[in-house]
Amino acid sequence: MRTPTRVKPDLWPARLDGLQSATGLALALFMIGHMMFVSSILLGKDAMWVVARAFEGQFLFGKPFPGLVAGVIAIICVLFVAHAALALRKFPSSRREHQAIHLAARELGLEDTRLWLWQVYTGFALFFLASVHLYVLLTRPGLIGPFESADRVWSGTFWPLYILLLLAVELHGGIGLYRLAMKWGWFEGTDKAASRRRLKRAKWWMTGVFLALGFATLAAYIRIGIEHAPRQGERYVPAWYQSGEAP
Ligand code: HEM
Repeated sequence: MRTPTRVKPDLWPARLDGLQSATGLALALFMIGHMMFVSSILLGKDAMWVVARAFEGQFLFGKPFPGLVAGVIAIICVLFVAHAALALRKFPSSRREHQAIHLAARELGLEDTRLWLWQVYTGFALFFLASVHLYVLLTRPGLIGPFESADRVWSGTFWPLYILLLLAVELHGGIGLYRLAMKWGWFEGTDKAASRRRLKRAKWWMTGVFLALGFATLAAYIRIGIEHAPRQGERYVPAWYQSGEAP
C-alpha cells in the first residue's frame, strides 16, 4: 500500500496578502499624518513653516536638512510601489472576470463588491497621480513651505492634479481601511451585520471629513498662491524668525 504523500500548503498567497494589508495600513496611517501636516496652513503661514522646518531638523540642528524629508519620501515611495505591485495580483484581467464582478456588483446588488471595484479604479488612478507628486517632492525636498507649496499649487499648476489625487486617495484609503477592518475582524461585535453597518458609516464619515479638510487646505494654498504669484519663487520666512525673536 502506498503511503499518502504529505502536501505542503503553499503559504505564499497568505504571506503576500498579509504584506499587502500591512503596506496599505502603513500608507493609510501616513496619509492621516500627512493631512495634519499639510493642513497646518489653515492655522496660518507661520504654523506650516514651523512644521515644515521641524521635519528638516532645523530646530534640532540649527540648520535645515532637506535630506531628512527626502528619506521619508523615499520610504513612502518603497511602500507605495510594494503596495501597488501586490495589488496588481487582484486586478481583474480577463473579460470574463470583469463581467462576473460587474454582475455581482450591479445585478446582485453586492455593495461590498461595488466598493471593491471603486478601490480598483481609484488604485489604478493613484499609480499615475501619486507618482507625479512623489517624484516632484523627492527631487525638491527643500521646497516645502507656505510660499513654496502655494507657488507649486498655483503657479506650477499642480492644483488640478491635487483635486484628482485628493478624491482618489480619500476614497481609496477609506474603502481600504473599511475592508481591512472587515477582513481581520477589527472592531467586530457579536452581531456581524451590525458591525458591518457601523464600520461602513464610520468609513463614509472619515472620507467626508478628510475630503472637507483636504479641499479647505487646497483652497488655502490656491489663495496664497494667487496672492504670491507676482513674487513667485520667493521663500517664506516668518518676521519673528528674521528678527531673531522667539514666537
Ligand atoms: C502616496 C503618497 C501621497 C499622497 C497620495 C499625497 C497626496 C497629497 C494631496 C492630495 C495633496 C493636496 C493637498 C490637500 O488638499 O490635502 C498633497 C499635498 C502635499 N503633500 Fe502629499 N501625498 C503623498 C505623499 C507625500 C509625501 C511623502 C510628502 C512629504 C513628506 C508630501 C508632502 C506634501 C506637501 C508639502 C503638500 C502641499 C503642496 C505641495 O507642497 O506641493 N506628500 N499631497
